[in-house]
Amino acid sequence: MSAETKQSPAAQARSEMFLDWDDARDLAPILEKVRPFTMVPAESLIDLSRVARAALTYGIPGAFVECGVWRGGSSFLMAETLKRAGARDRKVWLFDSYEGLPAPKEIDGAKAFEYARNTDSPWYHDNCSASLEIVQRAADELGLGSYTEFVKGWFDQTLALNRDRIGPIAILRIDADWYDSVLCCLESLYDQVVEGGFVIFDDYYTFDGCAIAVHEFLGKRGLSHQIENVIGRWEGAEYCQSALFRKGGGTWRWLDQCYRTAQEVASVIPPGETLILADDGALGADLTIGRRAIPFIERDGQYWGPPPDGETAVRELERLRAAGANFMVFGWPALWWLDHYGELREHLNSTARRILENGRLAIFDLRF
Ligand SMILES: C[S@@+](CC[C@H](N)C(=O)[O-])C[C@H]1O[C@@H](n2cnc3c(N)ncnc32)[C@H](O)[C@@H]1O
Repeated sequence: MSAETKQSPAAQARSEMFLDWDDARDLAPILEKVRPFTMVPAESLIDLSRVARAALTYGIPGAFVECGVWRGGSSFLMAETLKRAGARDRKVWLFDSYEGLPAPKEIDGAKAFEYARNTDSPWYHDNCSASLEIVQRAADELGLGSYTEFVKGWFDQTLALNRDRIGPIAILRIDADWYDSVLCCLESLYDQVVEGGFVIFDDYYTFDGCAIAVHEFLGKRGLSHQIENVIGRWEGAEYCQSALFRKGGGTWRWLDQCYRTAQEVASVIPPGETLILADDGALGADLTIGRRAIPFIERDGQYWGPPPDGETAVRELERLRAAGANFMVFGWPALWWLDHYGELREHLNSTARRILENGRLAIFDLRF
């Protein structure tokens, strides 16, 4: 996906807005704000926030939808992201019975029955019930009312009915615990998830019925979406907390890495600058949002493949430097070039300044 070529000017501005986002500075206060309204653990909330920001950064179009809302915290996190971005062209849809969970069935597994039986547990939360009025009031009090759309009722009566109103979906977050509910969400809304969009399953690792519904749905349709997990921590031990897949367009981990790297690029190269991008044709505009990237080596603006030798690489670099490129960026798919083309490495070391280097990126300032 090309962030530079496919977005409207407003969406382009939003892309750049999240480039200098700092989780400690910007996300922590939002998590504090939504924490009283969600039972979703920290790592999954952080990942959800990254998914929402990536959708805006990379212009993945469509609504954000949560099926299974309880007190609304995860939805509020998505809505707050829209609010920060000033994204008035999307909403967060909050589907729930607002009466709690239906009873589990055999297919949901032993843990589901244990949950339903153990009504004194601190995790029971009155069968996950919260009334529509209470959740709506919370959204208003948090200043998120205009970014949210509430639909009350059982999924099998509400989701299909509201499909047209929702339109394309960028994020479908399914947090409904049981097999019947999860399957109903997928059958009703999967087709509206856009290419490159996300489907998140809060309970994939918690309740058997959720995982069975996911695999049954994907298997029946012959879909090869790869399940990725979010790792949580409990008393120092790691565990699989929630799961998601991307509908086409590569994995979430890949896009998330592009997003992190784009933030690093933006931290040292001002917007509007021209840079030479060595990435073996793999990353492109996903890495260089708001900057003009010339592929290395290029012919007529297109990536032409790796340099045949060090001498050609140096000649090409100098040609592009003379044409106005002020920086050279090596993304992880081409980092090995710096070892392989000794002449290029030495030339850069003697005629440019290395301003950033880590395991996935090396950036040179060519203005020397
Ligand atoms: C675990 S809670 C959701 C937690 C919430 N996402 C959060 O951030 O804390 C599950 C929710 O799914 C809803 N739910 C489950 N199955 C449903 C169905 N078939 N129709 C409507 N709501 C359902 C319940 O009412 C409950 O609010």
